[in-house]
Amino acid sequence: MNLKIAVLPGDGIGPEVIKQAVAVLKAVAEFYNHTFEFEEGLVGAVAINKTGNPLPEATLNLCKSSDAILFGAIGDPKYDNNPEAKVRPEQGLLQLRKELGLFANIRPIKVITPLIDKSPLKRNIIEGTDILIYRELTGGIYYGEKKLSEDGTVATDICEYSQIEIERITHLAFKAAQTRRNKVTLVDKANVLESSRLWRKVVKEIAKKYPKVTLNILYIDNAVKQMILNPNQFDIILTDNLFGDVLSDEGSVIVGSIGLLASASVGTKYAMFEPIHGTYPQAKGKNIANPIAAILSAVMLLDNFGLNEEANAVRKAIELTLEHNIVTQDINVVRNFGTDHVGETIVSSILNNEEVNGY
Ligand code: IPM
Ligand code: MN
Repeated sequence: MNLKIAVLPGDGIGPEVIKQAVAVLKAVAEFYNHTFEFEEGLVGAVAINKTGNPLPEATLNLCKSSDAILFGAIGDPKYDNNPEAKVRPEQGLLQLRKELGLFANIRPIKVITPLIDKSPLKRNIIEGTDILIYRELTGGIYYGEKKLSEDGTVATDICEYSQIEIERITHLAFKAAQTRRNKVTLVDKANVLESSRLWRKVVKEIAKKYPKVTLNILYIDNAVKQMILNPNQFDIILTDNLFGDVLSDEGSVIVGSIGLLASASVGTKYAMFEPIHGTYPQAKGKNIANPIAAILSAVMLLDNFGLNEEANAVRKAIELTLEHNIVTQDINVVRNFGTDHVGETIVSSILNNEEVNGY
C-alpha cells in the first residue's frame, strides 16, 4: 500500500515520541513491503516562533494533500499563564481539527496485560478493562463564542451543539458498539445543561435504530466516579468535547500512564492520529518520555487503512518490549530506559518477526 503521511511533531516531547512512531511505521513498511512517504509540517509554538501562526497555511495544505496525519503534542508553558497572548499554540490543534472536520475522537482505554500492576488501582477492579471513548471533537464549549468584558471582570464560553453534530458521532459510536460488546454509555450533564438535554434526545432517538445495542446514560459527575470504581461496566462511552477530554485523562490512571494512550480523530474525509498526552515540558529533550502513546497512535493509523496484520505485529512488539521491562520512567522509576531505546526495541521486534511470532 502507498500512503502519504503528514507528520506534525509539534512542541515539547512531541518530536521525540513522533520520531519513534515514524521509525515504527518505516519498519512496518520495510517488513510488509509498503511505501509510506513522510513529510513534516510545523504546528503549535514552534510554528508561532517561525511564522507567527500556530497553523501555517502550508501545514494545512500538507494535511489536506496527505492520506493521514500523525500528530505529536502542542503547547508551551510560556503561554499558559499569559492571558494577554493573542495567539496560542493550542489554537493550531483546534483549528486543524475544525478545518479537517475531525468530529470524532476515538480514545481506547485498554489495560495492557504486562502493566496491570502499574496502575494505582487494584488489579481486580481494572482487569479486562476495554473502553472506547467517542469524544465529540469539533463542537461544544471548545468552539462556542468566547468573550471577555471590557473591564476584564466577566468571561463567557458558550457551549453550543447542533442536532447534526450529535447525530454523526452517535452513529459512529453505535456502529462501533455493534462490533464490540453492544453497549453505549452517554455521559452528559442533562440535569443542568440545555446542550446535554439535546444530546439525550438525539442519542435516544438514534439508539432505536440499533436495537442490539443497549444505551445507558450517566451524569458526568457520576461517570468519573464509576470509571474508577468499576471500569469494566463500560464498552463505548459517547460524550461531548469537554467531558471527553476529562474522562480520557482519567482513563490513563486505569492503564497506568498517560504515556500509553493513543487516539484517532476522524471525519468524513481526513484522519489524524495523536497521543492523548500533552507536551510534558519538563521532559523535553531528556529522552525520558514514553513513546508508546505515539507508537500506538501509529497502530491506529495502520488499522484505519485495514492494515490489521501490521497493526497487530506492532502491538505484539510493544507487549514483548513491556514484558522485558524495557520501559521509560513513567512505568518504572527504578529500572528504566530512554525514549529512543524503547522505540528501537519495538522496531527490532517488528523487523525480527521470528521473535514476535515466538512470543
Ligand atoms: C487533548 C488535549 C487538547 C484538548 C489541548 C492540547 C487543546 O488536551 O487532545 O486532549 O483539550 O483537546
Ligand atoms: Mn486532553
